[in-house]
Amino acid sequence: MSETQGAVPVALITGASSGIGEATARLFASHGYATVLTARRKDRLDVLASEITANGGEALAIPTDVTHFEDIQICVALTLERYKRIDVLINNAGFGRLKWLEQLDPKDDIDAQLQVNLRGAIYAAWAVIPTMIKNGKGHIINIDSLAGLIGMPTYSVYAATKFGLRGFNEALRRELLPWGIHVSIIYPGGVETEFTQHTGARRKTNFATPKRVRLSAEDVARTAFRMVQHPRRQAIMPGYMAAVLWVNSLLPGLVDALVDRLFVRRERDIKKISTL
Ligand SMILES: NC(=O)c1ccc[n+]([C@@H]2O[C@H](COP(=O)([O-])OP(=O)(O)OC[C@H]3O[C@@H](n4cnc5c(N)ncnc54)[C@H](OP(=O)(O)O)[C@@H]3O)[C@@H](O)[C@H]2O)c1
Repeated sequence: MSETQGAVPVALITGASSGIGEATARLFASHGYATVLTARRKDRLDVLASEITANGGEALAIPTDVTHFEDIQICVALTLERYKRIDVLINNAGFGRLKWLEQLDPKDDIDAQLQVNLRGAIYAAWAVIPTMIKNGKGHIINIDSLAGLIGMPTYSVYAATKFGLRGFNEALRRELLPWGIHVSIIYPGGVETEFTQHTGARRKTNFATPKRVRLSAEDVARTAFRMVQHPRRQAIMPGYMAAVLWVNSLLPGLVDALVDRLFVRRERDIKKISTL
């Protein structure tokens, strides 16, 4: 019998201090997973860990900044020291700065998004793969975005990170097939979380995903958990957005014209631009 057989399964979740990561940690813990909670805000992780243990679950909070490779290495080492295994990695840490490209700060907005959303996910996968290969199983779930499937104005760098994550996910999925390690991706549309507090977006048109069609963090968490139970390559949320993606791939000129007319010209105050 291998060292890890019969032990409690372990899910390591990045960005567990709020939103989708927090909801995912709660859900996995309620289904008997030992949850490793990582993010930068230690106080939030500690509160969540206490809540999970008070409800009879198992949680280990490890403050981790995914832009620091050493933090991830330490996090994985501490997890293996405590639980000897990592069954699931949820690559969820991320944020979006949703402004015109020329308004983004090269370091704080452009580099930071690339480092957290894309490089952070790559680092975390890199760090857990050896133990998954050793155990002959595992599941990596990348939390992407619809912005990883369709490029919209003010999402340029965010979309670059999420398109990049999609490519990484697909290649890694094929790399790890021989070991039976699953690599899946979730593309959520608007989710009701603290995400919007960090975008820096100021819209003249008030254009945003209507509240009634926004997903909850728990919706995404449930999809991630179902994916682990019944592995599949991807999930688009909500499912009907597949139709919009289909129109975009079939008629990109039409989508260009609509977006230009309904969003870009109004937001950019086109008269001002033409006099420059
Ligand atoms: N909300 C949406 O509409 C939406 C839609 C599609 C996809 N997503 C994706 O879903 C994921 C989760 O976002 P959310 O909506 O749940 O937003 P959120 O509530 O703001 O959560 C983001 C999480 O990422 C963590 N994080 C940020 N920078 C980090 C860093 N350098 N190192 C470690 N952790 C870091 C934050 O923790 P700390 O600040 O404590 O580090 C926080 O726990 C993101 O990848 C996002 O792109 C969100």
